[in-house]
Amino acid sequence: MGTTTEFTTTNDYELGRMADGFAAFVERYPAFSRTRLLDQWRETEYSRLDASGQIYLDYTGGGLYGESQLLGHMDLLRTSVLGNPHSANPSSLAMTDLVEETRRYILTYFNASPDEYIAVFTPNASGALKLVGEAYPFTPASHYILTFDNHNSVNGIREFAKGKGAQVKYVPLTRPELRLDREALDATLGTVDGDQRNLFAFPAQSNFSGVKHPLDLIDEAHHNGVDVLLDAAAYVPTNGLDLGTVKPEFVTVSFYKMFGYPTGIGALLISRSIFRKMNRPWFAGGTVNFASVQGDGHYLAANEAAFEDGTINYLNIPAIKTGLQHLETVGIDTIAERVQCLTGWLLENLLSLQHSNGKPMVRIYGPTDTQMRGGTVTLNFYGPDERLLDYRRIEELANARGISLRTGCFCNPGAGEIAEGLTADDMLAGLKDGPDMSLPHFVQVIQHRGNKSAGAIRISTGLVTNFEDVYRFMNFAADFRDKTNLNIGKVTFDIQSCRVIRDGS
Ligand SMILES: Cc1ncc(COP(=O)(O)O)c(C=O)c1O
Repeated sequence: MGTTTEFTTTNDYELGRMADGFAAFVERYPAFSRTRLLDQWRETEYSRLDASGQIYLDYTGGGLYGESQLLGHMDLLRTSVLGNPHSANPSSLAMTDLVEETRRYILTYFNASPDEYIAVFTPNASGALKLVGEAYPFTPASHYILTFDNHNSVNGIREFAKGKGAQVKYVPLTRPELRLDREALDATLGTVDGDQRNLFAFPAQSNFSGVKHPLDLIDEAHHNGVDVLLDAAAYVPTNGLDLGTVKPEFVTVSFYKMFGYPTGIGALLISRSIFRKMNRPWFAGGTVNFASVQGDGHYLAANEAAFEDGTINYLNIPAIKTGLQHLETVGIDTIAERVQCLTGWLLENLLSLQHSNGKPMVRIYGPTDTQMRGGTVTLNFYGPDERLLDYRRIEELANARGISLRTGCFCNPGAGEIAEGLTADDMLAGLKDGPDMSLPHFVQVIQHRGNKSAGAIRISTGLVTNFEDVYRFMNFAADFRDKTNLNIGKVTFDIQSCRVIRDGS
């Protein structure tokens, strides 16, 4: 964006014209000028955003691809004859070479030594997490420790753990910043028997609050004889992860979150030491060195193939290398810096929003400055009467302005429950209605139990967010000045979404 861009505000938002706002922003966040290559990309690689007038603020939901990624991949497909890599014919071998090259590239990207880690291709981060859950050698003497702040695909591993008799323990978060309660974690880690197989899972960055949980937790868990599953899905799109420095046993990622294209491929990075101890509960095409019907036996492959069920998404796999190179061209630190500047500005401006009676217009869940947080900002709007505004209606109004944001619980019910002050009784009131319970219904139940929310609005900045995006979002936000639910009208659609209630065990 140039500083001369004309922008007509639709309200009396104090920043005035966007160009003035931009000048003030750059003065406050001078580091932003080091990220201008991304503004150029916005005009070339990502011109479709401005051509269609879209304000994309859902990078935690999914990243965006640059045009060159598509062209590079299409070129490869146009000019190659590629077959299923499970054979030994020329087209198959050509594909195998590309798959293995990509596998090596992923390890190099994360600075993971091939002597220490292997990379398994999965359909997404959830697929990677499921592999861990079903093959981790839990026993009745094991603990599965996890934080309240986890994606449901990490929460779901508790079912595998419980199925094998392991104890499941949740570590709470502190309010209002929604950071991990370190004392509670120390106490929990202190109760486990370090001679057993124990697993601690946490997200490097929260997909709810943007909190970055410290990576030194990995060493702390190791000192207590506990293995670590680092869910890096929301972290790696805007941060570097150096597996030469931190060494969790498992790392899970979804590549579309990092660079938008292709969807349908994730990875599980497993340390070689734990790989040998994993027990896959079944075998499938591609996972065995040898299997017999009459002999009723099988030998799993000794490498990553043991975890790749059936035919992998082979034609798309080379696009992962292209995507990683795309990030490397601009540098992950540049992306991190840009996201930090824009998020800092957004937080400051959201916090300054007030109704004419002086009441705050928004409540932000999680850190309100840029210390140890990423570009995910979750909030709710409140009226001048301090009543919660319906986030679903706000999403609907945002849609009308071409703003893509996310609402609901973001598949992270634990962080939401703590952020919104929902108690076990509130959640049990929801559970009481049985399997017919849905998020819209739960929202009603919770509103009847007090001025609480069972969901929120999430905006997330990323790779090519520019000042104009956040500025236009602020303009939208400022429009809720002095507005109540009556003024904004009723939502006209229902959002069915996930909500898994934290297990009390
Ligand atoms: C922190 C985190 N973990 C796991 C996932 C699951 O990713 P996927 O839906 O690609 O499997 C997500 C998706 O939003 C996430 O943010």
